[in-house]
Amino acid sequence: MIPRIYIPGDSGALALGAEKVARAIAKELAERGIEAKIVRNGSRGAYFLEPMVEVATEKGRVAYGPVKSSDVKSLFDSGFLTGGHHKRWLGAPDKIPFLAKQTRLTFARCGINDPLSLDAYKSLGGLKGLQNAVAMAPADIVKQVTDSGLRGRGGAGFPTGIKWKTVLDTTSERKYIVCNADEGDSATFADRMIMEGDPFVLIEGMAIAGIATGATKGFVYIRSEYPHAVATMNKAVEIARKSGVLGVNVLGSPNAFDMEIRVGAGAYVCGEETSLLNSLEGKRGVVRAKPPLPAIQGLFGKPTVINNVISLASVPIIMDKGAAFYKDFGMGRSRGTIPIQIAGNVRNGGLFETAFGLTLGEIVDDIGGGTATGRPVKAVQVGGPLGAYFPRALFDTPFDYEEFAKRDGLIGHAGITVFDDTADMLKQARFAMEFCAIESCGKCTPCRIGSTRGVETIDRLAAGIEPEKNLALVTDLCNTMKFGSLCALGGFTPYPVMSSITHFPEDFKPAPARVAAE
Ligand SMILES: Cc1cc2nc3c(=O)[nH]c(=O)nc-3n(C[C@H](O)[C@H](O)[C@H](O)COP(=O)(O)O)c2cc1C
Ligand code: SF4
Repeated sequence: MIPRIYIPGDSGALALGAEKVARAIAKELAERGIEAKIVRNGSRGAYFLEPMVEVATEKGRVAYGPVKSSDVKSLFDSGFLTGGHHKRWLGAPDKIPFLAKQTRLTFARCGINDPLSLDAYKSLGGLKGLQNAVAMAPADIVKQVTDSGLRGRGGAGFPTGIKWKTVLDTTSERKYIVCNADEGDSATFADRMIMEGDPFVLIEGMAIAGIATGATKGFVYIRSEYPHAVATMNKAVEIARKSGVLGVNVLGSPNAFDMEIRVGAGAYVCGEETSLLNSLEGKRGVVRAKPPLPAIQGLFGKPTVINNVISLASVPIIMDKGAAFYKDFGMGRSRGTIPIQIAGNVRNGGLFETAFGLTLGEIVDDIGGGTATGRPVKAVQVGGPLGAYFPRALFDTPFDYEEFAKRDGLIGHAGITVFDDTADMLKQARFAMEFCAIESCGKCTPCRIGSTRGVETIDRLAAGIEPEKNLALVTDLCNTMKFGSLCALGGFTPYPVMSSITHFPEDFKPAPARVAAE
């Protein structure tokens, strides 16, 4: 048997040197006259171990990581092609604690094989959901998705089945499925990882959405900062078309569905669904007032399902194993699994898919392993740049939409950023206002003007000018933004600001104390 070596082509792994490692391995193979097949897989998401190289041995896969190109010679000397011991030896990948503790439903295949091998996709259960869907009535597919309890993973947590039902029930000669792959939140990379590591699962999910709602055309809107995801998705769509997964007769059925990839220009607000639709139509990325809902009048004025990548990529497993199977995971009204993206100042950064319900403390301390610097954790921002900062006192909060809302926080796209005790929360609050000022689409005053005034007021606080008055002013401004903004960019910026003030009041003390402390 020719040895198989798996080296991730995922852009996270590439950023950590996977290409150099691949070249060094190819060179070493040539020099030693060894015949082997190099497979460029996706990443399994344990980024603290990337580049993670795997070899297929008679006893199964053996992983090594994080591998540097300077390790390659000694890896060969240690007999790594047959799983030999080496300082980078990690053993069977599915036994690595970070991976073994996960419940992988959406990411079940991600990072295992060549992402563009449709045969590999099928061999691990791919297309079963779509096969079931083509044999069902649209309303029954929608019912499965509704019964599964799946909620949008893009941020708002809106029930996916209800959205699909609105589109199904709206009569039109043309309907669309739009996949939101703008992934603008800090600390998030789940969409990118799945598009690069298992693109067919997204294609399958979109085809199911099309058949369920009567839409025959789909678009994936990917941010321009994701060139690898764009390339992989384009190739995967081409393969899916040639193999009859997409086209006029999806899997040989009378259902038609085709899709295209579109690249955004890089504005955070273009992740907001109505801005995204404007951008897709070639217009400026400005938020549209709702109603009308996109489900009724969306892309080019037609009924449109707009869903996040992970929402759509979670549909195939639901249609394969059934709503009850999926719903069995999770807690409260948060059903199924969620890919938590652990980033920032953390030891074990990466993607961790698990049923809803783990506490924030378990995620940060047990799975994340605390900070990379080894200093105490001070704060964790959950839900991207518009998410609240959680202090250690709230680490008992379970990962659940409602539990986070109860504590004035949000799950968002499930990205968490860890900060150690050197973080200055006044600076973080200022950053939130500045971010909003830069990214505001400008349509409404509380966001456009309020964020700029917010930066100025926090600067005055930092300088110790009338602290009580300015603190009251920031709070007042936050209330105006929260209740007066048209979309969540202006409406949620108060979360990071107010949580910083509420949980870390010592960082907002008057300037003399701050200056003395610095
Ligand atoms: C400022 C702003 C940025 C957003 N960015 C994203 C994004 O990058 N990706 C995403 O899926 N949803 C994003 N959303 C949420 C979308 O508006 C929308 O709720 C989502 O695409 C719906 O899909 P879902 O129901 O599957 O979550 C953003 C919302 C706002 C207000
Ligand atoms: S809140 Fe900000 S981003 Fe949203 S519509 Fe208003 S100005 Fe635009």
